[in-house]
Amino acid sequence: MKKRDKTRIGLIGAGHVCRIGHGPAIKADGRAYIAAISDPDLHNRTLFAKKYRVPGVYEDHRAMLENEELDAVVISSPPWLHAVHVKDAAGKGLPILCEKPMATNLEDCRAIIEAGKKHNVYILMGHCKRFEPGHQRIRELLMKGSIGRIFQINIFWYFFIPNLTVGPLAKIAGKLKKHGFDVDREFGFWRYGDVRAGGGDFFDHAPHYLDIIRFYGMEIEQVSCETKRCYPDIRPYEDLAVATFKLSNGAILLYDKNIICTGSPYGFERGYIYGENGKIAFRAAHAYKRRRMNVGIYRLLNIPMDIYKPVIFPYGRKKTMFFRQMKHFIDNVRHENTMKDGISGSWGATPEDSFLTIAWTLASYKSARDGIKITRENLFREIDTFQTDCPHDW
Ligand SMILES: NC(=O)c1ccc[n+]([C@@H]2O[C@H](COP(=O)([O-])OP(=O)(O)OC[C@H]3O[C@@H](n4cnc5c(N)ncnc54)[C@H](O)[C@@H]3O)[C@@H](O)[C@H]2O)c1
Repeated sequence: MKKRDKTRIGLIGAGHVCRIGHGPAIKADGRAYIAAISDPDLHNRTLFAKKYRVPGVYEDHRAMLENEELDAVVISSPPWLHAVHVKDAAGKGLPILCEKPMATNLEDCRAIIEAGKKHNVYILMGHCKRFEPGHQRIRELLMKGSIGRIFQINIFWYFFIPNLTVGPLAKIAGKLKKHGFDVDREFGFWRYGDVRAGGGDFFDHAPHYLDIIRFYGMEIEQVSCETKRCYPDIRPYEDLAVATFKLSNGAILLYDKNIICTGSPYGFERGYIYGENGKIAFRAAHAYKRRRMNVGIYRLLNIPMDIYKPVIFPYGRKKTMFFRQMKHFIDNVRHENTMKDGISGSWGATPEDSFLTIAWTLASYKSARDGIKITRENLFREIDTFQTDCPHDW
């Protein structure tokens, strides 16, 4: 395709998720290119612009939106800035792919929904797990009733983010920084230490699975949650959270998320779904290495062999979630449909979908703070103006 026929994408924020996800995905798709980026961080924007040969490089997103001719925008700044960035990009009439978490409070979420409606622009929220073939297969299996009535879903997602301010690890981090590798900046550690993040690790990662549960076809009816700050000296918010949810089909969801589980930094991400006629297990792909997600199903017939039968789904580098999400976004921007492997146009997360993930994330924190259960009936009464003030030790 000639360059003049390609979709011109501008990035607002060119950090970690652009390095691992959006940058490679836009390049691989071939129907778009990164025409401009804006990022106040000199290091991030310079390196990214060099790698992707980006012609328009800006410190300020408004200057980029004013000066560049763009067809679409990807917003991958920290979540407390999403509302402003969406409003500005929507004001220019540009379709938007906006990262999760949508925002840090409901007021900003509503502003994003309103901006989309007011300017009549397409907004895809970055709930990329919907585009993971493994989750799509699980959804199909559950919708077909492959394991009968669902009783329980358990999700365990652990990282290991140690205290890098003391001991030998501090020395290593210091040496790396001297050589230009700032661990905090490289991995966007604002999510664990910046009070503007709205919460700790749970705030950043709960929206993923609260969305996937709805993608599987269940609504959340009630939450009860406990959180803990294991490293109060260095983290304003929790680094460990265990939440239980009642779902609309009567099942119980256990969501266990922490960053204190000693082991590989990326830890593990596993899920188990138990039904009356069997169970499904998954081990999520390592997003950064673009590995395959493993899914197995264990029906009553499997009991004699006592093994899960692998669930097969299309796989390959370009079928991993960030690539497929970008393909879907570019399809919608260009009014094309190149998704040949089973994903219909309506599967992407809307701002309304994302709004619910923030509502239930905030409800989880409120439940932990006040020691209460929050139900769908009293959800908005409980959390409408609630913000996860910090520091907290709920
Ligand atoms: N979908 C996923 O799986 C996934 C994975 C990682 C991150 N994310 C999300 O992507 C977003 C960014 O996270 P990250 O890990 O890339 O963080 P990061 O800190 O590495 O990148 C964010 C970038 O935004 C820049 N920025 C700050 N203020 C800005 C402004 N006013 N205008 C433009 N840019 C600005 C920062 O300088 C930084 O380069 C977050 O919402 C995060 O939760 C999603």
